[in-house]
Amino acid sequence: AKITYIEHDGREHVVEVKTGLSVMEGAIRNNVPGIDADCGGACACATCHVYVDEAFAAETGRASAMEESMLDFAENVQPNSRLSCQIRVTDDLDGLIVRLPENQH
Ligand code: FES
Repeated sequence: AKITYIEHDGREHVVEVKTGLSVMEGAIRNNVPGIDADCGGACACATCHVYVDEAFAAETGRASAMEESMLDFAENVQPNSRLSCQIRVTDDLDGLIVRLPENQH
């Protein structure tokens, strides 16, 4: 799926991410800056925080209870905040846009 990552300063990175990877892995593998992913995708660090574009809110689903509790450690959490390691890439997410926070706490 094609995913657009938009950095806090507006810089866009459009990359192709394979189905089955997470949105976090898509960023790391394509050298998209702005996602730290300190825990490597275990939903245990909250440094892969992103804002999901409203148009994709339904496709990306809701954060799990565990993800919600980790998000408490992120800064500037919004209703569309997610931990990108917890979003699995599927064909339905083609065209997904995520915005990155100013920093990962
Ligand atoms: Fe650590 Fe997502 S990479 S919570």
